[in-house]
Amino acid sequence: MKWAGGKGQLLVRFERYFPPEYSRYFELFLGGGAVFFHLKPEHATLSDTNAELIHLYSMVRDDPAGLMAALDVHAGRRNQKTYFYEVRKQRSEALSPAARAARTVFLNKTCFNGLYRVNSRGEFNVPFGYYRNPTLYSVDAIRRASRALGGAALLAEDFRTAGTRPRGRDFVYLDPPYQPISRTSAFTDYTREGFGEKDQRDLANLFHDLDRRGCFVMLSNSATPMLKELYAEYSQKLLPARRAINSKGSGRGAVDELLVTNY
Ligand SMILES: C[S@@+](CC[C@H](N)C(=O)[O-])C[C@H]1O[C@@H](n2cnc3c(N)ncnc32)[C@H](O)[C@@H]1O
Repeated sequence: MKWAGGKGQLLVRFERYFPPEYSRYFELFLGGGAVFFHLKPEHATLSDTNAELIHLYSMVRDDPAGLMAALDVHAGRRNQKTYFYEVRKQRSEALSPAARAARTVFLNKTCFNGLYRVNSRGEFNVPFGYYRNPTLYSVDAIRRASRALGGAALLAEDFRTAGTRPRGRDFVYLDPPYQPISRTSAFTDYTREGFGEKDQRDLANLFHDLDRRGCFVMLSNSATPMLKELYAEYSQKLLPARRAINSKGSGRGAVDELLVTNY
């Protein structure tokens, strides 16, 4: 899946900060799951408030062939604008499990920039992306993802609930929606509720709590003054954002990445 804030590009720079050994793996803001799919831990609990996304991963785990068959239904019309809007307006609860998961992939691969954004009624509202020949899936990628998810529990849960589970020596990776550097600079509308300052503070409290429980905790976020302060007592690394070369407003929107660990 394409995912806003996806960590694929940053993995090489994260690599040396993962704990060398841990018991179970927890990821509370799964999104595209770049870190999970990189580490492929044997015992994992993965969660996100996006129920469509969690449903999709459950299908990938339990019935990859059924998912691919349901995706093939969309293949012939994957670059048609009218078809995109028909699928977008379908109510996911009314679809079969396979069709529901396929709809999520289809919208992700054909909408503008692969964003996932919902309106105040919780309806997906990203416009058509005008890709001429979007790839909906790769058999190999789905099969590999299915194997990686084999031992994983998947839960559509808020981080405050999911955060009650980890215990001593578990590794918890937290990658919340970024705190905006300015009012307009960042995208946090993955969910109807958005992700505001109170959520960032609740998350910092959870970080402290997990630390007290003896977990290994790692958090990535934008390097804002408030966040540096909230996590002042932990180890902080600044990973400079890669700025576009040769572009005029270079640096615009490029935010340094803050990586916090308690180990
Ligand atoms: C920055 S993205 C995670 C990106 C992911 N690490 C990747 O590599 O693709 C943040 C995720 O947090 C989820 N989210 C937003 N609010 C949440 C909440 N209150 N509890 C749990 N997940 C939440 C969003 O649905 C989104 O998938």
